[in-house]
Amino acid sequence: MYDFKIQAADTETMYRDLASALEGLVAGEPDPIANMANAAALIWETLPDLNWAGFYRNLDGELVLGPFQGRPACIRIAFGSGVCGVAAATRQVQRVEDVNAFQGHIACDSASASEIVVPIVRDGKLIAVLDIDSPRTGRFTEEDEAGCVKLGDILARVL
Ligand code: SME
Repeated sequence: MYDFKIQAADTETMYRDLASALEGLVAGEPDPIANMANAAALIWETLPDLNWAGFYRNLDGELVLGPFQGRPACIRIAFGSGVCGVAAATRQVQRVEDVNAFQGHIACDSASASEIVVPIVRDGKLIAVLDIDSPRTGRFTEEDEAGCVKLGDILARVL
C-alpha cells in the first residue's frame, strides 16, 4: 500500500512533491503499463479539478488508450487528430485553455473544458502522450505545464 497524500502550499512545491513521489513509485519497475497505471492514479489523486488523467501509447503510429483514471475514453486516435493527436504529431506540449475552441478536439467526456497533453519521447521515439483533462476552463497554467513536462521526463525513462 502506498500512501502519497500531497498537500503542498503552492503549485511549484506540489509538482516537486508529485515528481518525487512518481520517482519513488517507478523506481526499479521496468513494466511500462504498471508505471503508467500508477502515474495516472498519482496524478488523479494529487491534482485538483480533473476529470481525466492518463495515457495514450504510440502503437505503430497510432495512439491507443493506455492506463487512466476517469470515464471510459476513445480507444484509438490518429496522429494529427484532436489534442492528443496534434501533440503526438508535433511532439509539442498542447495546453488548451478551452477545448471547445480547439479545432478537431475529440470530446470523450463532455465535462472536459481544458486539457494538457505532454508527449513522452525517448531516444527520438514517441512512446506515449500524457493527457490530463479538467472540467474548468483555463485550468492549466504555465506552472502546470512546467510541472507536467517534468513528470513526462521522469516517465520517458521508464515507459
Ligand atoms: N480530448 C482528447 C481525447 C482524449 S480524451 O480527452 C481522454 C483529444 O482531443 O485528443
